[in-house]
Amino acid sequence: MKPPVLLNPGPVNVTPRVRDALLRGDLCHREVEFSDLMGAIRQKLLQVFDIEDEYASVLVSGSGTAALEMGVSSCLSPGKSILIIQNGVYGARIAKIAEIYQFPKHVLNYEWGKPPRMDDVETALKEHPDIEVVALVHHETTTGLLNPLEAVGGLARKYEKKFLVDCISSLAGDAIDFTTCPMDFAIGTANKCIQGLPGVAFVLFRKNDLCRLKNIPARSLYFNLMESHRAQESGDTLFTPAVQIHYALDEALDELMEETVAGRIQRYKDAADLFRKGFSEIGLEFLIPEGRRSNCLTALRLPEGIAYSDLHAWLKSKGFVIYAGQGNLQNKIFRIANMGDLKIEDIETCLQVLKESCSAKTQ
Ligand SMILES: Cc1ncc(COP(=O)(O)O)c(C=O)c1O
Repeated sequence: MKPPVLLNPGPVNVTPRVRDALLRGDLCHREVEFSDLMGAIRQKLLQVFDIEDEYASVLVSGSGTAALEMGVSSCLSPGKSILIIQNGVYGARIAKIAEIYQFPKHVLNYEWGKPPRMDDVETALKEHPDIEVVALVHHETTTGLLNPLEAVGGLARKYEKKFLVDCISSLAGDAIDFTTCPMDFAIGTANKCIQGLPGVAFVLFRKNDLCRLKNIPARSLYFNLMESHRAQESGDTLFTPAVQIHYALDEALDELMEETVAGRIQRYKDAADLFRKGFSEIGLEFLIPEGRRSNCLTALRLPEGIAYSDLHAWLKSKGFVIYAGQGNLQNKIFRIANMGDLKIEDIETCLQVLKESCSAKTQ
């Protein structure tokens, strides 16, 4: 039976090549073979984004939130505060992590789907000199909104702040210029646009921040960025890693290098364009206006008279997994992601099924 076409924003469909990598064989993580594998993955992550000179990478076994918690909990000097821009579930997650670690924080809260105002960001930076880190979610997957990375990064640079970005659902899917955008911490995961499998995530951070970071006292055992970096630099790992998921990530990074990041971004853009042309033809209403949408996901208002559960069940019966709205957007929107090893024919068939279900239900 054909596996379902995953139109949820990760885990994504992977190629047979990545799936087959799981079978490379059993391995002890304390052996040189794992050390070599980990070193290769850490290097490829930097190589593929062309950031080998400025950045270091640290792997963590766990989902994207593990890397996010590692980055956020390790980035702030004692006595300093963090400015969090929040316009969806994932911005709120950064705030939640900051709250759990009892960090002094300032939160700029916007309606979900609305971009932050740069004058608010600048005012906060002027009014609170204790802010050391500005945190932003690049692609807020809750709504498909692409937040203004360059503009917020520009303000962080102007006020000499560190810039932490959750790129979990955009890295390798939406354009990120590491040279013009001064990210100090970029958080990513294996199983979205990188097209690996769930279970390993990573933090990319600027090497010139190492001295400051090393002076921050440990706040977590598992999510300690500097301890993990120290161990991984010496070819070791603190805890038992998801070995086979590393095999898959290694293969996925080879695929990404072959496709190139620019090539993948273009493929995702083409897929999103094809989907969006079809959505318009069906008469579906977009949540986010053109120009602010990510390349990776589209949020659509549920048509009158159609329940999400029915739409989901109908599409699933035809082989397509779509995604619900969250929080106050539950039962108001649905989401269709176009990440992963997705075929043009699958997009066309999905649009046909969606058209049939919308017209059948609204007649
Ligand atoms: C922007 C963003 N941040 C964080 C996460 C959390 O990732 P995970 O569910 O892998 O922990 C997600 C998941 O979709 C996401 O889209």
